Amino acid sequence: MGKIQNDLGEYRKSYGKSALTEDSISDNPMELFQKWFYEVDASEGVDETNAMTLSTIGLDGFPKNRVVLLKKYTYEGFIFYTNYTSEKGQAISIDPSVCISFFWANMERQVIIKGKAEKIAENLSDGYFESRPEGSKLGALVSNQSSVIPSREFLEAELRKLEKAYAGKEIERPDHWGGYLVRPVSIEFWQGRPNRLHDRIRYSLQEDFHWKMERLAP
Ligand SMILES: Cc1cc2nc3c(=O)[nH]c(=O)nc-3n(C[C@H](O)[C@H](O)[C@H](O)COP(=O)(O)O)c2cc1C
Repeated sequence: MGKIQNDLGEYRKSYGKSALTEDSISDNPMELFQKWFYEVDASEGVDETNAMTLSTIGLDGFPKNRVVLLKKYTYEGFIFYTNYTSEKGQAISIDPSVCISFFWANMERQVIIKGKAEKIAENLSDGYFESRPEGSKLGALVSNQSSVIPSREFLEAELRKLEKAYAGKEIERPDHWGGYLVRPVSIEFWQGRPNRLHDRIRYSLQEDFHWKMERLAP
């Protein structure tokens, strides 16, 4: 082994903030998601409650995770925005199966969602794009996300060009940028408990569109 060695075996934490019991939760996982989201958002110690890890199955056969921001959720599912030609966009175009997860450390909670991603309607992406600050709009335009670029200077020069070109003009949403809706097929809620006896409740979507709820061993 080289010089770097850091044994983390002694890192250990006991969880005891909350519990998840069948009698206290909704038949619909989106309602439980909303309850948890509100509770975490109202609590101290989470910077971006809506930051989630999105995992796709890459064209190279590897899964890949990255963080994106949840911008909306409804009974239908979870919406985030990105560049459709990015590595994740290309992956989704071949295989829409994705996994998203949240780890809200301050409340000792994890949510894991498996689902299928689909592009949202163009007018919805337009609406969200329109609401973004100008700098973010130009950023979406300038960045050919996930492509290799020669340098930081190249990116900044491209941005300056666009700033000139669009001075005083309206910036429209480029076709390559927009939202995805992840329609969930399973949603698992994990609540840390003492002695590693954590609570895990999984909801799975059935063929008749009702949600089946099961408790999993921690
Ligand atoms: C806190 C945080 C929030 C992010 N939000 C987004 C987002 O909403 N959309 C997005 O495309 N990338 C977002 N990113 C950047 C992605 O993690 C990633 O670098 C980018 O989307 C390119 O991923 P890809 O090359 O795998 O497609 C965010 C990163 C962080 C750390």
